[in-house]
Amino acid sequence: MEFNWENEVIFVTGASSGLGKALALMAGELNATVISIARNEEVLKEVTNEINGSGGSGYYYCFDLENISQIPEFYKEIVQEVGKTPTILINNVGYQVAGFVQNTPVEVYNKNYRVNTLAPIALIQCALPDMINHNKGVIANVMSSIMYHAFPGVSSYCASKCALGAIHESLKTELSGTNVKTLRIRPGSFKSNYWENTDVDGRISDFKLPAGNGLRDPSFVATKICEAIERGDSEINLSTLKDKIGYHLSYWAPGTLDKIIADKNRNFVKKYPDKKTAMANY
Ligand SMILES: NC(=O)c1ccc[n+]([C@@H]2O[C@H](COP(=O)([O-])OP(=O)(O)OC[C@H]3O[C@@H](n4cnc5c(N)ncnc54)[C@H](OP(=O)(O)O)[C@@H]3O)[C@@H](O)[C@H]2O)c1
Repeated sequence: MEFNWENEVIFVTGASSGLGKALALMAGELNATVISIARNEEVLKEVTNEINGSGGSGYYYCFDLENISQIPEFYKEIVQEVGKTPTILINNVGYQVAGFVQNTPVEVYNKNYRVNTLAPIALIQCALPDMINHNKGVIANVMSSIMYHAFPGVSSYCASKCALGAIHESLKTELSGTNVKTLRIRPGSFKSNYWENTDVDGRISDFKLPAGNGLRDPSFVATKICEAIERGDSEINLSTLKDKIGYHLSYWAPGTLDKIIADKNRNFVKKYPDKKTAMANY
């Protein structure tokens, strides 16, 4: 059967910024029913108005996804109000934490996992029974190239995304034989508020943002994701050439890659000796 976005109900987390916002707007343009989830009400309202003005059907829900125990109730509320269950769930929410293992409080890891890893699991557990009942669905998880190799200064983020990747792998094979598909998204680097939203937890005094110049627009990534959904792909990998080289090095010459990263990190710490942590732009 030909894919028709008008039949799709798409839940997008992190829809107030960057990739999530671009995905919500694009799905709206394609006339899908779009449920946008994030905390910033003002932006979610704007996104939803735009969707409703462009032929789609938009709804928004302000929710802090850190509150994982409230997710089942939250999901029920959405389904009741919208009167539809999701056919596509995009677990896009995610933020980065900067800090060395030695001085990143465990609570900072805990919060980062709740948002980046546990909230996606909780949403999958809510949506999956409905998708299986309707014999149709796509569960898409947004990963990162750090799954190729974890970097210093961002262990919490790396671990949270690796864990999500492992859960995705298990789910993919658990769903084999059903009509519910999984889509693993490696979006590569793109322009967003990701760096501004990095939680430095007070440990970096003059956190330097990598220049956004030359990075892709999130709407490019969103287009590729929508095309992958239409084709029924299970994987989309927009990682940069540098990331891909890193991946091959980590497989074939892990010692060399470790050395390159460790040297870069040492140089960074030498250059900024006052910092208690390092966040190099690899
Ligand atoms: N940008 C990149 O180069 C890049 C590369 C690889 C992977 N990624 C991944 O791509 C995904 C999207 O990131 P982005 O770059 O578009 O970042 P972004 O611009 O910072 O957007 C993050 C979104 O997550 C929402 N969010 C954060 N914490 C939340 C919470 N506790 N509860 C609910 N919503 C929350 C934010 O909305 P509110 O603040 O309104 O809640 C925002 O809508 C993330 O999973 C990220 O790890 C990004």
